[in-house]
Amino acid sequence: MTEPPRKRMVKPPTGGLEAGRAKPARLKTAWKRTPSQQAWLERQINDPFAAKARALGYRSRAAFKLEEIDDRFRFLKPGSRVVDLGLAPGGWTQLAVQRGVTQIVGVDLLPVDPLPPAHILQMDFTDPACAPQLIELLGGAPDVVMSDMAPNTVGHRQTDHLRIVGLIEAAAEFALEVLKPGGTFVAKAFQGGETAQLIGELKRHFGEVRNVKPKASRADSSEVFIVATGFKGR
Ligand SMILES: C[S@@+](CC[C@H](N)C(=O)[O-])C[C@H]1O[C@@H](n2cnc3c(N)ncnc32)[C@H](O)[C@@H]1O
Repeated sequence: MTEPPRKRMVKPPTGGLEAGRAKPARLKTAWKRTPSQQAWLERQINDPFAAKARALGYRSRAAFKLEEIDDRFRFLKPGSRVVDLGLAPGGWTQLAVQRGVTQIVGVDLLPVDPLPPAHILQMDFTDPACAPQLIELLGGAPDVVMSDMAPNTVGHRQTDHLRIVGLIEAAAEFALEVLKPGGTFVAKAFQGGETAQLIGELKRHFGEVRNVKPKASRADSSEVFIVATGFKGR
């Protein structure tokens, strides 16, 4: 009997987030991958946060960004009502549930595997029918609106920028309409003129507005998180 061919395995780095900096793993089986897919895969394999997410059962490394933000601002609490915009694959919702949140609803364009007790909607958040459905599923006004939404890029700089800004503004507008007084708004944004403008606007409605760059956010990305706390009400 002939033996089946051996599968080539690539080991993730070991030794925690601060260690494992030795030699980055290179994938040799680049067959049928585009250069950008190949680069993404190699980055994932060499990324300590992605390795830690796999080890702890988080669906995404994004969970560590929210973990750091919540360690600092403490808004994920038992009894809080939370909306997670752009939740797929579910790392942020997993973290919220782990921190005792039981009333949580999320929305994404993509399908998401069930994450009880979270309610999950698969639809476009910018669809006007979405906001009322989120609030109905949540059963009342949220204490926290958090958005990690990022649009698919089309490669045209200006178009991509406008789409990103459009999503952030839609999330902020929703938060201003539905949050409970004292509530928190967290949103992924990108450094640039429009973000500064949005921060200025949020400052009128929240007690404090901060720009946060968590360690798990890649240094070469212009991603930042706006954290607005102490909603003053409508
Ligand atoms: C960076 S991922 C979110 C990761 C997530 N926070 C986690 O922890 O797993 C961004 C998500 O935003 C979603 N998204 C982008 N535009 C959207 C829209 N208009 N409505 C709903 N979701 C959207 C994408 O489908 C994508 O899944």
